[in-house]
Amino acid sequence: MDVIFSGIQPSGNLTLGNYLGALKSFLRFQDTHECYYCVVNQHAITVPQDPKELRRRTTELAALYIAAGLDPEKVTLFVQSEVPEHVQLGWIMTTLAYVGEMERMTQYKDKAKKAGESIPYGLMAYPCLMVADILLYQAKLVPVGEDQRQHIEITRTLAERFNYRYGEVFTIPEMFAPEGGARVMSLQNPTSKMSKSDDNQMASIYLGDEDDMIVKKIKRAQTDSDGEIRYDKENKPGVSNLLSIHAALSGRTFDQLAADYAGQGYGTLKADVADLVVGELRPIRERYRELLDSPELQRILDDGAAKAQAKASATYRKACEAMGLQR
Ligand code: TYM
Repeated sequence: MDVIFSGIQPSGNLTLGNYLGALKSFLRFQDTHECYYCVVNQHAITVPQDPKELRRRTTELAALYIAAGLDPEKVTLFVQSEVPEHVQLGWIMTTLAYVGEMERMTQYKDKAKKAGESIPYGLMAYPCLMVADILLYQAKLVPVGEDQRQHIEITRTLAERFNYRYGEVFTIPEMFAPEGGARVMSLQNPTSKMSKSDDNQMASIYLGDEDDMIVKKIKRAQTDSDGEIRYDKENKPGVSNLLSIHAALSGRTFDQLAADYAGQGYGTLKADVADLVVGELRPIRERYRELLDSPELQRILDDGAAKAQAKASATYRKACEAMGLQR
């Protein structure tokens, strides 16, 4: 069975973007692939985190994975910091990467700009840890949103560089980006992506938002004044974003949606999108609340860490042997 690996940072309240771009597509592989889904808490500390909050969010995110439909009997769910091989292989990856290629990462450049004078060094090294996450499991496919494309490319580059220098150890992974959901945009500024860290609460739908809040946010989403419902990302980013969310949840194509809504107003489209989002998120929210109080969760994560480590340590050992590092 081919291996799938992906992870989400426990760094804020998850948005509909994280759900449609990542979490929802995690589900489609669980019956057909060997899946490892990780709460990447060591990625989150590339910017300062409150320790108590980080611990809480890490557990909450694990609960959310299950609430969204991942079955711990079928997939391996675990917390990154419980498998030290991630950081160990991460160090090896920093020795393979070039400063120039790390400086060119767009996410690094954006985050560095926001950090001002004192840029945490981990922000630059971050992709090397992500590379290690993926390579440790010999993953063939990595389900992520469009914003992670460059990080998947550097993963391929470093895996190839390692294999070329030290011999074939790593599988070269590919990105899997879901149609429609790969880049959910801000509801208030539809030319930038919906983000956990947006200061404007109306810009993002959070997975914890109550039904009426979801409806309100979608009703107030930015559109345009020409009144026509069709997908045109360039000229109609707001309407196109609503259509993408619709498509990701209803399975309709953009052409079908344009036909469905011919002659209708934005109000109708918004009401339907709100219904779809509410219908999708409500059961997840309810299951999530039950799971948080359940003692099962810790056991699932302990088992997950043990299973993940068995796989990760085998790969790490191979990498060390290939490089001449004693283990
Ligand atoms: P993170 O935590 O920022 O986001 C988690 C996932 O959500 C996707 N995503 C989106 N998809 C569509 N529209 C959006 N607006 C949107 N916002 C976020 C992201 O693409 C991602 O798939 N570096 C990663 C975490 C990571 C990882 C890994 C992922 C660490 N190691 C190994 C895969 C494999 C990150 O910061 O994602």
